[in-house]
Amino acid sequence: MEDSRPGEATFSVDWFSRCIPAWTALFAAHMPRPRRILEIGAFEGRATCFMLEHLLPAEGGEIHCIDTWEGGAEHSGIPMDAVARRFRANVGAVLARLPQHQVVSHRGLSRHALGNLLAQGNAGRFDVLYVDGSHQAPDVLEDLVLGFRLCRVGALVICDDYQWQRQKAGQVDVLDTPKIAIDAFTTIYRRRVSLIDWPCSYQVAFRKSGD
Ligand SMILES: C[S@@+](CC[C@H](N)C(=O)[O-])C[C@H]1O[C@@H](n2cnc3c(N)ncnc32)[C@H](O)[C@@H]1O
Repeated sequence: MEDSRPGEATFSVDWFSRCIPAWTALFAAHMPRPRRILEIGAFEGRATCFMLEHLLPAEGGEIHCIDTWEGGAEHSGIPMDAVARRFRANVGAVLARLPQHQVVSHRGLSRHALGNLLAQGNAGRFDVLYVDGSHQAPDVLEDLVLGFRLCRVGALVICDDYQWQRQKAGQVDVLDTPKIAIDAFTTIYRRRVSLIDWPCSYQVAFRKSGD
């Protein structure tokens, strides 16, 4: 993997670009110019940079990024120190061009960072929650339950990796997939969420319709 050059965003992987057409249409229709975004799982900052450049309002907004920068089981073999450096360089390069925006990094397990944000009085503060951290079902469920509390009514929630599975067909451990957690959350919270029908089967999007 090559290192970032100052002032220039570099990425070693791309899990995000395929989402851009669907995200562009989704945000135009449901959440033009959100001011406060909460991202769980930032990696090298590819989605963060897109949100800084294309979603936040021109006058300024903020993104809170939560990540251990240690990777999950699916990231074994990836040098995560380099990933964390690349995140800082990529986000720093965009912020140098768009200094009206703010990025707050929370390094640690998402359940701790989300709990801290709640304890610091941030319930109902975020316009958008992007869940793309751990792929383990119990972790995803926790991210959704705690992250949902941090969202205002009307907020947009997007969950990545709805179809992700580590094992091959026939040997899938469902507790090692986000899908069962996303389905459980949207079922149990069905009176407080409004699912959005959109052309992106790899992700699930919904609005928070009630507290
Ligand atoms: C798929 S990557 C995120 C990709 C990123 N959104 C992008 O645009 O490229 C998942 C990230 O979640 C982080 N992660 C995994 N489990 C976590 C946990 N329990 N708490 C916080 N971060 C976690 C990993 O370190 C990794 O950087």
